[in-house]
Amino acid sequence: MLTLFFSLGLLLLLGLLLKFAFADGNNSLRVLNSIFVIDLVFAPVVWITGANRGIGEALAKQFASLGAKLIFSARNEAELFRIKSELKGKYAPEHVKVLRLNLPSSEERLQNVVERAVSLFPGDGVDYLIHNAAYEGPKSNAVDASEENLEATFGVNVFGTISLTKLVTPHMLKRGGGHFVVISSAAGKVPSPGQAIYAASKHALQGYFHTLRSEFFQKGSKVTVVCPGPIETSNGTGTSTSEDKNSPEKRVSSERCAELTIIAASHNLKEAWISHQPELLVMYLVQYMPSLGLWLMDKVGGGKRVEVAEKKVS
Ligand SMILES: NC(=O)c1ccc[n+]([C@@H]2O[C@H](COP(=O)([O-])OP(=O)(O)OC[C@H]3O[C@@H](n4cnc5c(N)ncnc54)[C@H](OP(=O)(O)O)[C@@H]3O)[C@@H](O)[C@H]2O)c1
Repeated sequence: MLTLFFSLGLLLLLGLLLKFAFADGNNSLRVLNSIFVIDLVFAPVVWITGANRGIGEALAKQFASLGAKLIFSARNEAELFRIKSELKGKYAPEHVKVLRLNLPSSEERLQNVVERAVSLFPGDGVDYLIHNAAYEGPKSNAVDASEENLEATFGVNVFGTISLTKLVTPHMLKRGGGHFVVISSAAGKVPSPGQAIYAASKHALQGYFHTLRSEFFQKGSKVTVVCPGPIETSNGTGTSTSEDKNSPEKRVSSERCAELTIIAASHNLKEAWISHQPELLVMYLVQYMPSLGLWLMDKVGGGKRVEVAEKKVS
């Protein structure tokens, strides 16, 4: 009897390990993904920043086909209109709104953009704001990173994103809460050699949004922080995390990343991780066994990884 239980236990463990080896997201995300189909219970107004390529484009296509009302933002309006014309859904493409956004901007300009966003669908406001736009500068070690890189990265990823949030939150609260979906990064969870500034900006975002949720949760605000590892995007002009086409690491497709992001948001997960191995394992180790995880990261040669990253871009 004991042997039977032991064998069953061992089999179960092996099964779980095998599932984890081929996972592309953290456990709660995968459980939700296996139980539920994505369904938006009403037609929310979804405002997506950085919607003209990569993960933002994939999010826009999937939200549109789920029947959401979309507001699309980025700097390059021509690309936004191109994607708008390709969308299919109850409100797409006719009722998809393009709203140019440049981060960071003066408070007055951002205020203007927010006022327009909340009035684009009369009778509605903004239900979801997907903070997806980001900038990542050239790779270098933490000390050699230039001031321009520091300024540009924090300008878009932190100052612009936070300023926009501060302005839109009162409108959302008036309508009962609102939901921020923050596309952070695995770099916001674990050391990322060669990307210290970008990693710092993503850590800053997580600190801000987890705190915002704590402060406004009782008033109805929701926050889902999504941390993708390497993602395959169809173009190479964006954040350099998406550029290393020759890198041997296995990337999750931007469509799958968008799908898991929507699952996480529609089930109000506070945080979701999207990645293949070994990045997913590293995230677990650093989160739950930080001494071991960080020791391992140091041992696998952060310095070497910076050199490789720098060579790739030079
Ligand atoms: N791809 C990956 O492997 C990966 C991994 C982890 C996390 N992420 C995160 O996922 C998100 C999307 O990444 P991605 O690689 O799909 O995007 P991407 O190709 O780098 O595109 C960035 C988006 O942000 C917009 N943007 C850039 N600067 C802006 C500014 N100053 N003001 C307003 N919008 C601006 C861009 O449009 P315009 O240039 O037209 O403004 C573009 O739509 C980012 O937050 C990124 O950090 C990506």
